[in-house]
Amino acid sequence: MSKFEKSEWAEEGHAKQFLENADIYILERQRLFEILKSFYRYFLRNKINKRPIKLLDLGCGDGALTREILKEDPEIEATLVDGSAEMLKNAKEHLESHPNFIFIEKTFQELLEDESRGNDIIGDGFDFVVSSLAIHHLHTEEKKSLFSYIYGHLNFGGFFLNIETVKAPEDELESWYRVLWGEWIRENQENMDSPANFEYLPEKYKNNPDNHADALNTQLNALESIGFQQVDCYYKYGIFTIFGGKK
Ligand SMILES: C[S@@+](CC[C@H](N)C(=O)[O-])C[C@H]1O[C@@H](n2cnc3c(N)ncnc32)[C@H](O)[C@@H]1O
Repeated sequence: MSKFEKSEWAEEGHAKQFLENADIYILERQRLFEILKSFYRYFLRNKINKRPIKLLDLGCGDGALTREILKEDPEIEATLVDGSAEMLKNAKEHLESHPNFIFIEKTFQELLEDESRGNDIIGDGFDFVVSSLAIHHLHTEEKKSLFSYIYGHLNFGGFFLNIETVKAPEDELESWYRVLWGEWIRENQENMDSPANFEYLPEKYKNNPDNHADALNTQLNALESIGFQQVDCYYKYGIFTIFGGKK
């Protein structure tokens, strides 16, 4: 089983580094957010009549996804989960004007253990479950268990959307995708006039023992076999994807 406590995300410094620099090196991060918001408008805000729409943000970091969705719908009711106390502190600060939001410091592994012991504290009845760049830290079977957990916590008609890195089907493709990512980082740094240089990151990502990305097809098949519908990859650029499905 993967251990959050042994991962770099358990280090305060790593969380800070991500929060300060994610826009520089996460490939097309702003585009990912725009697609997330379009998805929210189309499938949730404009289709579901009930209010408030209930959101669950898994591996929320500083609440970046929840804050984007709030721009589309200030009435949402959000539950944010992260294994990192540092990240949750930042999320609470950013979202302090929403005292009804629930913040839970738990790892995904703990959520699954709690559920298996009949001690699930997340509650159910979510309309939208989102996650970004967090679930690839779990091993394949843990991912499948988390996808089932998500399905179990969604309302019928609700959606799961995962912004995530995936493993390419062939090593040669994976190698090019890393080059492609590095090229994007270089271009983005120039556009942002960034003094920092993160072109080394794709290689670091490859060698990082905390990353357990699975092939896109494995994950889409897992979602389908759990019962999700409208399962698809909604966006892809190298190893960066957005995929999900509807309950
Ligand atoms: C790359 S950050 C992304 C944060 C945020 N979703 C975003 O896109 O800005 C990954 C987040 O997942 C959290 N995380 C990683 N592994 C986790 C696990 N096993 N359980 C819970 N949270 C985890 C980290 O603490 C971190 O906040």
